Amino acid sequence: MSEPLILAIDTSCDDTSTAVTAGTKVLSNVIASQTQLHAPYGGVFPTVAKQAHKENINQTIKIALKRAKVTWDKISAIAVTQGPGLAPSLEVGIAKSKELATKHKLPLIAVNHIEAHALSPLANSGVDHQFPALAIVVSGGHTDFIKITQIGEYERLGFSIDDAAGEALDKVGRMLNLGYPAGPIIEQFAKKGDSKKHSVPLPMTGREDFNMSFSGLKTWARNKLEQIETQNTLNKQDTYDFAASFQYGVFRHICYKLNKLLKQHQISEVWLGGGVAANIEIRRMIRETLKSHNIKLFTPYSKRLCMDNAAMIGVVAGFKFEQQQFVKNIKELERRPRWEINT
Ligand code: KG4
Ligand code: ZN
Repeated sequence: MSEPLILAIDTSCDDTSTAVTAGTKVLSNVIASQTQLHAPYGGVFPTVAKQAHKENINQTIKIALKRAKVTWDKISAIAVTQGPGLAPSLEVGIAKSKELATKHKLPLIAVNHIEAHALSPLANSGVDHQFPALAIVVSGGHTDFIKITQIGEYERLGFSIDDAAGEALDKVGRMLNLGYPAGPIIEQFAKKGDSKKHSVPLPMTGREDFNMSFSGLKTWARNKLEQIETQNTLNKQDTYDFAASFQYGVFRHICYKLNKLLKQHQISEVWLGGGVAANIEIRRMIRETLKSHNIKLFTPYSKRLCMDNAAMIGVVAGFKFEQQQFVKNIKELERRPRWEINT
């Protein structure tokens, strides 16, 4: 029997996305990006995001159904991101999902956005995965190590106690006038730079836990830039070197804690998700770390599956559908802006 078709919606932050999925198979994944709208603010402006979600959502739904070549009568459930995310943004997707579930008399599935990033490598993977797996979610809002005993059973083993890794890259990119979001630009600049030019400190080495901290790295960057600029203004090559060194410092910190974690926990596979997972260098450094533990890395099949998207919400919903985990009272579903994965 074929898997039930799910129409999934994600409006957690600044991208409006709708997808159609069947189990872990992605039939369509439409993303209306708001990057251009928020760039002048150097970050996501919540009221602007909410308004843009409202303007874009109907169109993304229409296109997602069209690209998947399905009509409403073939859809078995609606899925929506309940949290975490920006409250005004979440509200738009949740309101639309309630409207659609009621109108088409379909069950509604509420999904955690971090669980979706964690399971995003399963989309279209077709592999028989081994447990326990460790998901590393590295995005603009999270840097988490999540142990997955089985789908639906999670334990967060480590997390950033302050800024997320993507946030640190964005903030330092702003200091370098690279625009927003700076993560992908830092990746390009770093390719032309010397990652050993500046030695970025390695934080939290004296602690036994697997938590991380990126705000000290950001302060280090600000001080270092001030120091360099008192001598001369940064030329192109200096900026490349700085980007390469800082990016290396951020990823080295994650890999250091990952290595420590793998020495103490038996893990069969590592799954990498979140916006920063699109970065080729973090993938290379994590693979290098996993080599000595003989563990394989799984990443999402495309960059679109790394960034915020509804296909990953649909993948989680596919598993929840199997367990019949539907929202009991659709009218009462509320957004959960600070919802952590194992709570
Ligand atoms: O998962 P995501 O799209 O949204 C959140 O849930 O936060 O992640 C966005 C973050 C931003 O900080 C962005 O700079 C970063 O992912 N990012 C990257 C790359 N592409 C996106 N960071 C480094 N290298 C990239 N190629
Ligand atoms: Zn995200």
